[in-house]
Amino acid sequence: MREATILFLRACLTLLAMPIYILSFLGIWEPFCRKVFFPFFLEKLTALQERKTKKPKQELFRNLPDFGSPSGELKLLEIGTGCGANFQFYPPGCKITCTDINPNFQQSLLRSMNKNQHISYEQFLVAAGEDLHQVPSGSLDAVICTLVLCSVHNVNGTLKEALRVLRPGGAFYFLEHVAADHSSWKYFWQQICYPTWKLIFDGCCLTRELWKNLEEANFSELHLQHISINLPWTPIQPHIIGYAVK
Ligand SMILES: C[S@@+](CC[C@H](N)C(=O)[O-])C[C@H]1O[C@@H](n2cnc3c(N)ncnc32)[C@H](O)[C@@H]1O
Ligand SMILES: *[C@@H]1O[C@H](CO)[C@@H](O)[C@H](O)[C@H]1NC(C)=O
Ligand SMILES: *[C@@H]1O[C@H](CO)[C@@H](O)[C@H](O)[C@H]1NC(C)=O
Repeated sequence: MREATILFLRACLTLLAMPIYILSFLGIWEPFCRKVFFPFFLEKLTALQERKTKKPKQELFRNLPDFGSPSGELKLLEIGTGCGANFQFYPPGCKITCTDINPNFQQSLLRSMNKNQHISYEQFLVAAGEDLHQVPSGSLDAVICTLVLCSVHNVNGTLKEALRVLRPGGAFYFLEHVAADHSSWKYFWQQICYPTWKLIFDGCCLTRELWKNLEEANFSELHLQHISINLPWTPIQPHIIGYAVK
C-alpha cells in the first residue's frame, strides 16, 4: 500500500514537472541546470543556509586550527566548493585549495572571496571528488565537504580520495543532509520527491544513509552527530555533522 502510494505521488510530481522532464529528454535541461539554474539557485540557497546553519558550522569548525602543523600552517582542501559558503568559517591565514566538478560558480565565488580576505586562496581545480589526482597524497591538514556527498556519483570513492590526500592525523569535516528514519513521514516524503528532486537539483539524492559510508571509510576516529535543520516544507531536514580523523 505504502509502495503504491509512493509510486502514485511520484507520478503526480513527474506530471507537475513534465516541462523539465521534456527538456531533459531533449538534452537541454542538464546543461542549462549546470550553467544557469544551479549556480543561480545555489547562491539563493546559500543565503538561506547561512541563516540556518551558521551556529552548527561555527561549532563544527571551531577546532579546525588544532589540525594545523607545528609551524602554524593550515592547509585545507574543499570538495564541491560551490559559491564558497564556508570561507567565513576558516581561520585567518589558512591556505585553501578549492575544487568543484562544475566551473560555473565564478561570480558568486568571487563575491565570497572578496568578503573573506582573511584566508589565502592557493588553487582552484575543476575536479570530481572521486578523482583528485592533481593533489598529492598526504598533502593536506583538513578536507571539507558540505552538502556534496548527496550529489557525487560515488560516495565511497570520494571518501577514499579524501583519505588519500589527508596527512595522517588530518581531518575530514562534513555536513550533509541524509535519509530520514524509515518509519517517518519525512522518509515517505523523501521517497516521493526523490526522482524529480534529483533531476531539478543537479543529481542531489535525498535518501543516502551517508553515516554508514563514513563509519566504514577507514578513518581512525569518527565524531558524528545526527541533527535536524529547520527547513520547513523541504525534504532535507535530517543532517549529519562532524569530522573524522585519518
Ligand atoms: C549543494 S552544493 C554545496 C556547495 C557548498 N559546499 C556549500 O556547502 O554551500 C553541491 C556542490 O557539489 C558539487 N559537486 C557535485 N558533484 C560533485 C563531485 N562529484 N565532485 C565534486 N563536486 C561535486 C556541485 O557542483 C556543487 O557545487
Ligand atoms: C561502500 O562501502 C561500504 C563499506 O565498505 C559498502 O558496504 C557499500 O556497499 C559500498 N557502496 C557502494 C555503492 O559500493
Ligand atoms: C578499508 O581498509 C581495508 C583494509 O586495508 C580495505 O580492505 C577496505 O577496502 C577499505 N575500505 C574502504 C571503504 O576503502
